[in-house]
Amino acid sequence: MSPQASSGVNAGPSGPARLLVLGGGGREHALVWSLSREAAVEAVLVAPGSDAIADEPKVRCFPNVSALDPAAVLDLATREDVDLVVVGPEAPLAAGVVDALLDAGVPTFGPTRAAARIEWSKAFCRDVAAAAGVRMARGRDFTAMEPALDFARELAEAPGSRGVVVKADGLMAGKGVTVCDDLDTARAALGVLFATLPEGQLAQPVVVIEERLSGAEASLIALCDDHGALALPPARDHKRLLDDDKGPNTGGMGAYSPVPDVPESLCATLVDVIHMPILAELARRGAPFRGALYAGLMLTPEGPVLIECNARFGDPEVQALLPRLAAPLGPLLYGAAQGDLASAAGALGLTGRMLPTTGDAAVAVVLAAADYPAAPRKGDVILGLDDAAAAGAAVFHAGTVRDADGQFRTNGGRVLAVVGLGTTIPAARANAERAADLITWPGMQRRRDVAARLPAAARGAATSPDPVSEKAWMKGGPS
Ligand code: AMP
Ligand code: GLY
Repeated sequence: MSPQASSGVNAGPSGPARLLVLGGGGREHALVWSLSREAAVEAVLVAPGSDAIADEPKVRCFPNVSALDPAAVLDLATREDVDLVVVGPEAPLAAGVVDALLDAGVPTFGPTRAAARIEWSKAFCRDVAAAAGVRMARGRDFTAMEPALDFARELAEAPGSRGVVVKADGLMAGKGVTVCDDLDTARAALGVLFATLPEGQLAQPVVVIEERLSGAEASLIALCDDHGALALPPARDHKRLLDDDKGPNTGGMGAYSPVPDVPESLCATLVDVIHMPILAELARRGAPFRGALYAGLMLTPEGPVLIECNARFGDPEVQALLPRLAAPLGPLLYGAAQGDLASAAGALGLTGRMLPTTGDAAVAVVLAAADYPAAPRKGDVILGLDDAAAAGAAVFHAGTVRDADGQFRTNGGRVLAVVGLGTTIPAARANAERAADLITWPGMQRRRDVAARLPAAARGAATSPDPVSEKAWMKGGPS
């Protein structure tokens, strides 16, 4: 046994006592906020973390340890004798950090590089989904411009076509997808991709062409351990920069949960027909998945369709989700990391496919820097943070830094997520808006319509009655 294999000894029946969280953005702030509030947790270490994350109770940040450096992360985890490492962003997964930790016997919540490929290779995701019988948009992957364009033409000219979608294969930081109304736009997008991709990559599938689907989107994220899944409630992200879904795509300008048109009763079915078969197929291929499996869904008139998989928690979805959870995360993440999620859930008295919620709804409003997403400006002084907290909101920091005078300044594209809770979505929205209104800096950008347009059935309740019968979904289900 390696010396590192002793990690995990502090973990008791109630879960891990010493955790190391990798990352330093808004998602990691929400994870740390949640974990540090659990009674069984004694210490949360964060690499690199941030000034705001360091303000949370029980927390120590290591700004000089890169989350992308497997040796540095392993050294820290071993030195600090942590019970569990929790990986926030996708980049450490792709950098093989989890593989290095697992090789050394350190329990880790986050998939290996081989399993995380489901996020960074859209062609691999499609291949796994097809083998697993999970429905995605009609599409194919290509390594050359001409056949890609021929297929785009075929899709664009098909009866009832709404256009095509061009996707780059690989970690593109959310910038690799172009939704095209017509063939000319697709041709231009393909031209850019084939012109910019490094020569060496042309031997691999590099571009995915899909039919363009239409419908509302939803994110369903599940804690997974090779063969089992336990889903967080569904959430909805607002990807475009401006109100009414206008402007450029972003990492996400706001999120809310629950999602009235994805009732929680339907989620168990979705986990059964999406997450479970994908887990089984990954395991069959020798790449079992332990971590958060994020299914990006489109609710088409023919039923929910899988648009993408991510190998991590969604950001800003998780900022809206974690304050709603009525179960401690620590023991569940630890159980998943050990390949025994079912026992961890059982020990907490949980049954079924869904994590329990408090009954509150949550709305997260993202405040972004001037000139985000093109060239976000750094260094603007942020005013009103204490007022927003006093108004009862949770304020998660995604891109801030504290200056020598103790003031927080902007230091990234998405700067803050202001989360309001309430017994209904409109009440949560009002609380989030009221708190967000108290925060300002020069050039701050935000949407004013996060969670503003809800299906009529949902206006009165945090968790709506089931408006979509399981039968209706199955009718449109996997083909
Ligand atoms: P992805 O990175 O695959 O999630 O794509 C980013 C965004 O592009 C999604 O959230 C959708 O809004 C849009 N998108 C992706 N694939 C499709 C599709 N086949 N049809 C319509 N929109 C899509
Ligand atoms: N909010 C979208 C994502 O985390 O990928």
